[in-house]
Amino acid sequence: MPKRGSRPSPPKSSGRASSASFARRAGVLPVVVAALTLAAAVAGPAHAQELRPFTIVGDAIPEPLTGIKGDAARGRAIVVDRRKGLCLLCHSGPFPEQRFQGDLAPDLRGVGSRWSEGQLRLRLVDSRRLNPATIMPPYYSREGLIRVGRAWQGKPVLSAEQIEDVVAFLATLTEAP
Ligand code: HEC
Repeated sequence: MPKRGSRPSPPKSSGRASSASFARRAGVLPVVVAALTLAAAVAGPAHAQELRPFTIVGDAIPEPLTGIKGDAARGRAIVVDRRKGLCLLCHSGPFPEQRFQGDLAPDLRGVGSRWSEGQLRLRLVDSRRLNPATIMPPYYSREGLIRVGRAWQGKPVLSAEQIEDVVAFLATLTEAP
């Protein structure tokens, strides 16, 4: 019996998503924001939180929200945690132990060389300030989180400390894919 030729594997889709496909999938944002906010509520920093004041300079928030640097190991845990950060719903990165990673957004590998800590901070705090049409949820904002249950309104998805931990981790991702 002749062997059937094996078919070439399909091209990987990551990194090839067109802006049209981003737009098509943009409907995912309210769901993600609701899920994230629910996760934050379950995870606990429950009481109405005052946001720390911060200053945007250009496309960055140069100073840590907490006044001190975060912890990269804790930041990694937040990034891969599907109840806290949910980052891997959209992003992929150097997380060999994580089976499911997203392809709606740039791979996180190399972000530490592409952006300064201040630029990473603003992208996490509120990407809408750079791209009003972004599907990336604002992680440290209380504004414009539509369709969020009353009990969860008024809280950022991540705390200021968690933002700093994630920034510290992203800054270590200096190797490009
Ligand atoms: C719902 C999808 C989604 C989620 C969830 C998400 N992002 Fe994003 N992110 C994006 C998109 C899309 C971009 C591309 C820029 C844009 O459209 O604003 C982006 C851009 C970025 C960038 C800049 C990347 C670059 O190379 O320019 C960083 C850093 C980043 N995200 C980190 C995170 C982290 C950390 C989390 C979790 C705490 C996260 N994102 C959660 C969609 C998402």
